Amino acid sequence: MNKRRTLEWDWYAGTIPENVLVDETAYIETTFSFYFYRSQLPGGVEFGRGASTYLGTMFDVGPKGRVKLGQFALVHGARIICDAEVLIGDYAMISWNVVLMDSFRVPLNPVERRKELELVPTRRPRLAAATVPARPVKIERNVWIGFDVCVLPGVTVGQGSIVGARSVVIEDVPPFTIVAGNPARLVRRLTEEEINRHA
Ligand SMILES: CC(C)(COP(=O)(O)OP(=O)(O)OC[C@H]1O[C@@H](n2cnc3c(N)ncnc32)[C@H](O)[C@@H]1OP(=O)(O)O)[C@@H](O)C(=O)NCCC(=O)NCCS
Repeated sequence: MNKRRTLEWDWYAGTIPENVLVDETAYIETTFSFYFYRSQLPGGVEFGRGASTYLGTMFDVGPKGRVKLGQFALVHGARIICDAEVLIGDYAMISWNVVLMDSFRVPLNPVERRKELELVPTRRPRLAAATVPARPVKIERNVWIGFDVCVLPGVTVGQGSIVGARSVVIEDVPPFTIVAGNPARLVRRLTEEEINRHA
């Protein structure tokens, strides 16, 4: 990133928002990743040492949202929907088309949801407001999340765990396990040998 907060290699004519903190060794493929970014907090997104985000990654972060990418975390194309906090630990690897969401944003109740939709045309930007409480999502260090996975609000994926491709994670994943499916269920625990290789 240069002083104008643009990226020399960028195909999109955007800038990195002022309140995004980027370690000098971090990599952002394109500023288009901030198209939906609206955080007003200091450090609305924080990139740790060597962290990377690639094409397809979208920071859909609301005014009170904060996202943190740990050291050498690699996000290959996730939509990060955040109204409170989404933490991605050191060495976490997130594949393409993943959704990490700490908020459902609109009410489950159809009458309340309809009222919210009626307000959309009056809003600038023309969006539904987040009207349900957000619940932070935590992806701990060394986690690997396969492609097309969805992680729902309030979930922690424990360190060293693997989430199989196309899973929907509705509850916490214990450390050093493999989970898969919709809803994601335990496939197996990693062996001591596999865990030691992680350390
Ligand atoms: C989960 C995964 C890591 C395989 O782990 P594994 O320990 O080798 O698991 P196995 O292949 O032995 O399968 C174990 C069981 O889990 C099931 N399973 C494996 N992956 C699954 C998935 N993605 N969704 C649903 N079930 C899955 C298998 O069908 C098998 O079920 P069974 O015991 O009833 O026969 C792998 O299937 C996967 O999804 N990898 C992610 C790949 C990816 O996204 N790559 C992107 C590049 S970053």
